Amino acid sequence: MRRKVIAGNWKMNKSPNDVKEFMSKFPELVKDTAHDVILCVPFIDVMTALELAKNTNIKIGVQNMHYKDSGAYTGEVSPQMLKDIGVQYVIIGHSERRQYYNETDESVNLKLKSALSHELNPIVCVGETLEQREVGITKDFVTMQVKNAFEGISKEEVNKIIIAYEPIWAIGTGKTASSNDANEVCKWIRDEIRNMYGDVADEIIIQYGGSVKSSNAKELFEMSDIDGGLVGEASLDPDEFSKIVNY
Ligand code: 13P
Repeated sequence: MRRKVIAGNWKMNKSPNDVKEFMSKFPELVKDTAHDVILCVPFIDVMTALELAKNTNIKIGVQNMHYKDSGAYTGEVSPQMLKDIGVQYVIIGHSERRQYYNETDESVNLKLKSALSHELNPIVCVGETLEQREVGITKDFVTMQVKNAFEGISKEEVNKIIIAYEPIWAIGTGKTASSNDANEVCKWIRDEIRNMYGDVADEIIIQYGGSVKSSNAKELFEMSDIDGGLVGEASLDPDEFSKIVNY
């Protein structure tokens, strides 16, 4: 049985003071869960979040990183810096970064390799646009994203990677993919990993993301190939997010 991994992606929300308020409630609400709980916070919140997550079952991640260790890259944060302060997870290739910040399959691949080499756990995002779904190329497109992201990744490293399937049309729109549609794509992805790497495909965590809420989490997370979720909006409220974690 694969474990369930539920991660919040706070995107560009919450200041360190807001983190204090969130963490004054949230740890108590999720302390008994059997699932993995991750908060991917803005860089400015990382130190506060790490401090307040000490002695809890909550792990802290970020939403992006550079692939190099250091250098003249104004405004960037390196994997070495993240590792140094105790960050454990990093989201790579979120569709918002692909759309607004020129993230490509190539940079996603570089960041993925870099994260693994620093023993950071990557959460790699893939997913199709509404147009791609409507013309029937979801499978081809997502398969291509996975293949490009995993280029040069060894069999031994595969199960350290979490894949988040996030159909772009379901992000922040209130439109959730039906549990069957979401599961179908997560299963394709797993089959693709099986074609590339063999049975380790049964170990890899594949999350669904896109308008996950407490009202739909159970149905989604109980599907055969959905191993939890990457949650945006609904992870900002401690009560709502704890209901998703404890679905
Ligand atoms: P929403 O849950 O707000 O739709 O966002 C999903 C997402 O992009 C998580 O990374």
